[in-house]
Amino acid sequence: MILLGLNIDHGATVRQARYRAAGATHGGAVEPDPVALALAAEQAGADGITAHLREDRRHVQDEDITRLRAQVTTRLNLEMACTPEMTALALAIAPDSVCLVPESREEITTEGGLDVVKHRERVQACVDAMNAAGIKTSLFIDPDAPQIELAAKLGAPWIELHTGAYANAYFGAGRAAEFERLRRGCELGHNLGLTVNAGHGINYVNIAEVRTLPHLHELNIGHSIISRALFTGIAKAVSEMKARLNP
Ligand code: PXP
Repeated sequence: MILLGLNIDHGATVRQARYRAAGATHGGAVEPDPVALALAAEQAGADGITAHLREDRRHVQDEDITRLRAQVTTRLNLEMACTPEMTALALAIAPDSVCLVPESREEITTEGGLDVVKHRERVQACVDAMNAAGIKTSLFIDPDAPQIELAAKLGAPWIELHTGAYANAYFGAGRAAEFERLRRGCELGHNLGLTVNAGHGINYVNIAEVRTLPHLHELNIGHSIISRALFTGIAKAVSEMKARLNP
């Protein structure tokens, strides 16, 4: 069984588009509430909830994270940049896991994997702090050997392989090569003793192939499920993805 983690950021984005200035994150007319979305998704079978607290707070707000921590009963995964501010915040909130991602203000969503080779010291400091606090760290990295090998050396128990390049190539000539790159990444991560997750750009179509990658523990999916939920509601969107994930 491959687990399904729901990323709720895009739900928060819709709320912020209208209510950024309201000063409230939920209640009254403020909607949609990403926490309510998360709880409904859990009821429908999501195995974990992911939220990305960005430095510029463009979608998920601090209050969302506090409420998620209190109410999520599966597993709360906090996506965050590898900075001292976010490390301190994670230690205070104590999510079940953190996923370290690169962050740049210009991107709409996370565009590429964290370069752990380039940012080795910062990543190591964060991994050490999380390990000491009993919080699992996942490193969101491109499926390349130097990144995966260093992730294992740094003592991060999990990696999340970036499936964005594969998803972008899905209808083009590069798909087979990107799939093979992911496949090798999964094998290498597994052989090094890492728990291997994957995410970014996974949808109701490409899931049929992504799910055949070896040794997958969990897929983290956001955009396609939130988009589908506009038509079907979140429960059906989640259960449909779960059915395709483990047919
Ligand atoms: N995993 C990580 C680390 C991400 O940054 C994102 C995007 O926020 C996702 C998974 C989900 O990507 P998508 O919204 O394309 O499903």
